[in-house]
Amino acid sequence: MKPYVICHMMSSLDGHALTDGWDRPFTKNAGELYETLARQFKFDAWICGRVTMQEIAHGDGYPAGLATKPIPRTHHFADKNATCYAVAIDPHGKVEWKSNQALDSHVVAVVTEAVADDYLAYLQSISVSYIFGGKTGIDLAKVVTILADELGTERIIVEGGPHVSGSFVNAGLVDEVSVLVLPLIDGRGEHPASFEVTPQAWTNPTYLTLTSAEIQDGGSVWLRYKKQ
Ligand SMILES: NC(=O)c1ccc[n+]([C@@H]2O[C@H](COP(=O)([O-])OP(=O)(O)OC[C@H]3O[C@@H](n4cnc5c(N)ncnc54)[C@H](OP(=O)(O)O)[C@@H]3O)[C@@H](O)[C@H]2O)c1
Repeated sequence: MKPYVICHMMSSLDGHALTDGWDRPFTKNAGELYETLARQFKFDAWICGRVTMQEIAHGDGYPAGLATKPIPRTHHFADKNATCYAVAIDPHGKVEWKSNQALDSHVVAVVTEAVADDYLAYLQSISVSYIFGGKTGIDLAKVVTILADELGTERIIVEGGPHVSGSFVNAGLVDEVSVLVLPLIDGRGEHPASFEVTPQAWTNPTYLTLTSAEIQDGGSVWLRYKKQ
C-alpha cells in the first residue's frame, strides 16, 4: 500500500522558503516550531532534497578511487530495521555524508544509475543505504514504492527544500500539505517560491481542501490541507 505522504514547509507570507537573511533568533524560533509541528505527524521516514541535505550533512569530501570494479545498480540496504529513515533525493551523488545517521535517522540516498561507482563505494564504506530512483532522472512514485516495499515505511514527511516539495506535490504523491506561515514578508522575488518543480515544469495547479488553521505562539499560522 502507498505510504501516507505529508509535505511540511515553513513559508513567509509572500510564499518564500529560503531562511537565509532572516534574523537568527527569528529563524531559530521558527525552525524549532517547524520541527515540533513536524513531529506531530509521527512519520517513519523524512525526505529532503540534495541542497537541504548538504546543509544537514556538513560534508567535507570523500576519498577518490574507492571502487575497484563496477558496482551493480541494485539497491543497497545497510539497515532495514531503523526506527526512522532520512531520505536524500540526490540524483548525482553529491551529498558528502560523514556517517549513516542524520538527526537520529538512518540515511538512505536516492540516486540515479548514472551516479559514480566511487560514490556508491563511499556510501557502502560508511554503511549508508542507497536506492536507484531511475536511470538518469528520479521517478518519485517509484521511490515511494521502494521505501514502502523494502523498508516498510507507512508515513513519509517531505520537508523541503522548495524543489523537492514542489516535485512531490506536482507528481500527485502528496496526501496532505502542511505550511507554517511566518509573520514576515521576505520580498526577494528572485528566490524560489515555497513549492517549485525540478527538473521539469509544473503541469497543473494542485487544488487542496483546508482541514485546519491554528494560530501559533509568535504570530505564525499553521495551515493544513488535504488533497481534493
Ligand atoms: N522553509 C522550509 O520549510 C525549508 C525546508 C527545507 C529546506 N529549506 C531551505 O531550502 C533551501 C534549498 O531548497 P532548494 O529547493 O534549492 O533545494 P532542495 O529541494 O533541498 O534540493 C533540490 C535538489 O534536489 C534534487 N531534486 C529535487 N527534486 C528532484 C526531482 N524531482 N528529480 C531529481 N532531482 C531532484 C536536485 O539535485 P541536483 O541539483 O543535484 O540535481 C535538486 O537540485 C535551503 O536553503 C534550505 O535551508 C527550507
